[in-house]
Amino acid sequence: MKTRNLTGHFGAEVQDIDLAEPLTEDRFLELDDAFNRHSLLLFRGQNLTPEQQTAFGRRWGELEHHVLQQFTLPDHPAVFVLTNKQADGKPAGAHKTGWHWHIDNTYMPRASLGSLLYAIEIPPKDGDTLFTSLTTAYDRLSDDVKARIENLKAVHSYKYVYANKYPDRPPLTDEQKARVPDLVHPVVRVHPVTGRKVLYVSEQIIKQFVGMPFDDSQILLDQLNAHATQEDLIYRHRWQVGDMMFWDNRATMHFATPYDDVNHIRLMHAARIVTDAFVGELAA
Ligand code: SIN
Repeated sequence: MKTRNLTGHFGAEVQDIDLAEPLTEDRFLELDDAFNRHSLLLFRGQNLTPEQQTAFGRRWGELEHHVLQQFTLPDHPAVFVLTNKQADGKPAGAHKTGWHWHIDNTYMPRASLGSLLYAIEIPPKDGDTLFTSLTTAYDRLSDDVKARIENLKAVHSYKYVYANKYPDRPPLTDEQKARVPDLVHPVVRVHPVTGRKVLYVSEQIIKQFVGMPFDDSQILLDQLNAHATQEDLIYRHRWQVGDMMFWDNRATMHFATPYDDVNHIRLMHAARIVTDAFVGELAA
């Protein structure tokens, strides 16, 4: 398998693969190894139906059905549509989603192993996605900070991010709220395959640290996020139509950047694989 590194410390492009073809066991094992080592795999020039995208994801595990089911494909509830497009005067997908640093689905009872994002329409400029490595971020913490956060836990809350980031969307239904109870995760997690420590943070989704006042939590969270998103840690992905990105939610966080959404369309299909390794505890 031919690969090209995307940065000096994480991310790789896999150059000789057509993801529309079923994966042989040998190819799956090779990709899985590359995924765990690089945390982020880019596949250019793909032409994928929702069936093919989800079949690829299912090789790694079960796919999550997004809590905002109004933005999933009717025949493919595991495909979440991200777009500013309208259909019959209504949003054809979730818009402005993920315009902040976050790890996907830490607010779901079973967190996410990885996400698959496939680019169908791309604006001529902007709308890039930024990625950072949370394992390198952890390694670079000072010993003092490592000691301070070693046993710290954080409350991850979809209701909190939804109220703060998406005030224009209709309120969550009771059924949706029931799917996303506030959850507690350790701030330092251990990647189940590589054994490396991960600085498991995100903006907006973490409401506060357990046992720490809200204001103090925000200060520490800002410091940890600033540390994890230093310029030289980041890979900025400039999308092309046909790109598929597969990232490890146990080792990275990402940020979808804005674009001219009045004059241009951005349309992406996302699928998220669940993991039983990173399970949150119900918050008190
Ligand atoms: C996401 O946060 O999962 C979406 C990323 C993107 O639209 O680039």
